[in-house]
Amino acid sequence: MDRRDVGSARIIRGNALALPLADESVDLVVTSPPYFGLRSYQDAGEHYDGQIGAEATPAEFVDALIAATREMVRVLKPSGSIWVNLGDRYAGSSGGGGYSDKSTLAGFTNPNTKGRQMQEEHAKTRIVAGAPTKSLIGVPWRYALRCIDDLGLILRAEVIWSKPNGLPESVTDRVRRSHETWFHFTRSPRYYSAVDEIREAYLPQSGGRDQSTYGSQRERTVVGGGPRTISEANPLGKLPGSVWTVPTQPLRVPAELGIDHFAAFPMEWPRRIIKGWSPLGGVVLDPFGGTGTTALVAKALGRQGIHVDMSADYCRLATWRTNDPGQIAKAMQVKPTKAKKPAKQVEGQVSTLDLFEDGISA
Ligand SMILES: C[S@@+](CC[C@H](N)C(=O)[O-])C[C@H]1O[C@@H](n2cnc3c(N)ncnc32)[C@H](O)[C@@H]1O
Repeated sequence: MDRRDVGSARIIRGNALALPLADESVDLVVTSPPYFGLRSYQDAGEHYDGQIGAEATPAEFVDALIAATREMVRVLKPSGSIWVNLGDRYAGSSGGGGYSDKSTLAGFTNPNTKGRQMQEEHAKTRIVAGAPTKSLIGVPWRYALRCIDDLGLILRAEVIWSKPNGLPESVTDRVRRSHETWFHFTRSPRYYSAVDEIREAYLPQSGGRDQSTYGSQRERTVVGGGPRTISEANPLGKLPGSVWTVPTQPLRVPAELGIDHFAAFPMEWPRRIIKGWSPLGGVVLDPFGGTGTTALVAKALGRQGIHVDMSADYCRLATWRTNDPGQIAKAMQVKPTKAKKPAKQVEGQVSTLDLFEDGISA
């Protein structure tokens, strides 16, 4: 079988600040580090030491993020990309604004009592320095500017994650926060991209005019010389814009695993990014792997997913997820087959061919 048809997932318990990977061995990083002061990640029901997000100030938090990003740059090939998702929060609040799941410090529902007490203490004592009370801290911007200034990274895009199903907020003097930020960085001005893979359909009857940027270089040089017509539009569709509306997605974890983790991003994010910025068979890393969403989608799309997380529990969860036929089928957007079980497969690997059935799941 062609190697490119086979995806794999490797789950590693480790520290994002010291990745057990060779220099320049990764094609793409897709990751969502913990948010500042938002939640305590657990291992065996306890807050574990060394996790990012538990720093005393936003400045220390950004320092830690920069150290982790420096490590991502070390393992990234010169042709690679780094996509990082960050949320923001308001100074003086114990929970973030606009976070759409139920695991914020203020509303955490960990059934483990000790864990809950620690969460509450953590929330009470949190002192947010560096921004006046009620100010948005601006964590994503602070981070992105330092990636450019300190790490010399090229910031290719800021993409807004618009959340159509975000939770309501009780404030009455500002807008509800309904988005998070993604940054796309590269090491080099020329890097791998396959953006044709994720072009979008034109709006019906727009005549190809529902975008301000035209599809190909040749077409772009034409624009400006006269009115835009359908013949100028790229037949593969329009370039994705810089606001992506993606609903958050609940993850049902089998009770027997006994693990809570509420911060998974929807599969649609790694799906678009992996298709657009990594080659088939390429290596896709998530150094803050959590439930294993990136590794799962990478495997389903015929890439080699590498998942790193400090929590043994979350590594167990990711191992389940990246081998579960239902999860893999969801990642591939196909219906799971009943007849074919992963027992036939080499552990950690699945052939995309083994999972296909005719229908596309909703
Ligand atoms: C926001 S979650 C990632 C969720 C992931 N995107 C998903 O879809 O499941 C952040 C993860 O980073 C892990 N983490 C925190 N500090 C870490 C560190 N220093 N090294 C590796 N993992 C860490 C936490 O255990 C947590 O699982």
